[in-house]
Amino acid sequence: MKRVFLQTFGCQMNERDSERVLALLMEQGYREVSLPEEADLIVINTCTVRKKPEHKVYSLLGRFKRLKERKPQLKIVVMGCLAQQEGEGLLERFPQVDMVIGPDRVDEFNEGLEKVIDGDRVCMIGFKEDHSQRVLLPPFRSVRAYVNIMQGCDNFCSYCIVPYVRGPEKSRPSQEILEEIRLLAKEGVKEVILLGQNVNAYGKKSVGELSFVELLRKIAEIPGIERIRFTTSHPKDLSEELILAFREIPQLCEHIHLPFQAGSNKILKMMRRGYTREEYLQKVERLREVVPEIAITADVIVGFPGEEEEDFEQTLDLIKRVKFDGLFSFKYSPRKGTLASRWPDDVPEAIKARRLEKLQSLQRKITLEKNKALEGKVLEVLVDGCGEREGQLRGRGRCNRVVNFMGPLDLIGKIVWVKVKEGLPNCLRGELLLEEKEVLYA
Ligand code: SAH
Ligand code: SF4
Ligand code: F3S
Repeated sequence: MKRVFLQTFGCQMNERDSERVLALLMEQGYREVSLPEEADLIVINTCTVRKKPEHKVYSLLGRFKRLKERKPQLKIVVMGCLAQQEGEGLLERFPQVDMVIGPDRVDEFNEGLEKVIDGDRVCMIGFKEDHSQRVLLPPFRSVRAYVNIMQGCDNFCSYCIVPYVRGPEKSRPSQEILEEIRLLAKEGVKEVILLGQNVNAYGKKSVGELSFVELLRKIAEIPGIERIRFTTSHPKDLSEELILAFREIPQLCEHIHLPFQAGSNKILKMMRRGYTREEYLQKVERLREVVPEIAITADVIVGFPGEEEEDFEQTLDLIKRVKFDGLFSFKYSPRKGTLASRWPDDVPEAIKARRLEKLQSLQRKITLEKNKALEGKVLEVLVDGCGEREGQLRGRGRCNRVVNFMGPLDLIGKIVWVKVKEGLPNCLRGELLLEEKEVLYA
């Protein structure tokens, strides 16, 4: 049996790509191990969206070099967004690396590996014309699964490397997506998470393709699929049709991840986001008008070039107005080749850190407040595993919050009703009400 150690950085798309590589490797007789020392093959799936994940890859490469010195037959593969960005350069700088493969070439992983086993060093990068992808099921059983629906991005927000490393925006043929989801449903998957950098734009560039909302409706018709989520939607493309879909498609969970990035119009303009704070707030208002209970999460950046105290105050103000259910916040990190990297990174590190801390402490308060407000409410929970404590189960509500509660193990994979007893900073604690959702409708 051949053994692979795989480490993934970055977003859900990378997680899905790692699953696909693992599924391909399992076809070749590999099994996954949790220690690099035990592996014959090491795969690092990389991210280059900020400096931090990029640096982690370089330090790992150093560590694996020493491993390879002791075990020369070990093969090392770098895949993902850093692979696409650096290409051959990685092979030149790191003699321990055997293969470099970009995110658009994952389907060809085994062909590349074959050459590597024969002793070649391989670089497979660049973008394919279409976004057809082999239908591949996740290597492990789960009730929840990621499904790729788009690749790349055409938005070129001034800070962002993604359009360069994932290529132009393209949609995966709906036939393929639906076939994959039908197979997933047969395997017991109840919840699908559709992945793309800007899912609202689905199908727009392909003649005769379904629109995003049409795709959602088709997915909702697949027997066994009880929940649909998607990420990420861009505020500028969030249409009235999609907002209404939250009300009209019962399987579509009441949660939207809608990154706003900054609360000041000056910064939003420099970021090239294509909306103003007022427009963003209007979309949020409309979403809540149509679906009052919708959970809204977002991404935000502090310390963008030229961000002054008053711009940052505007970001805090937007957060207070919207009261997000969760927020991912980052310090601006200049990325080589992007428009913003030509401007001075003029917010000192200490100020970035202070702003981030202030923002996060505000959001912690809001998250706790919102979690507490759910106390006494009954949630529909998809049980996906064991909780941290003995006898506890763990699942997610339709709002995507994690809920822990006591219950029998055979509920894993089922949808149940849980009463919220306590709202905590990062999750909810509840009490099992009905063991099967269906009971309520009987
Ligand atoms: N497609 C998604 C985001 C993909 S990147 C969208 O459009 O919203 C994930 C998040 O990383 C972004 O939302 C942004 O908040 C953050 N990010 C991207 N580039 C960054 C940079 N150069 N510095 C800091 N954060 C960045
Ligand atoms: Fe990056 Fe903007 Fe595209 Fe999101 S929409 S991936 S932030 S360029
Ligand atoms: Fe990172 Fe690439 Fe995702 S840069 S955030 S892994 S698209």
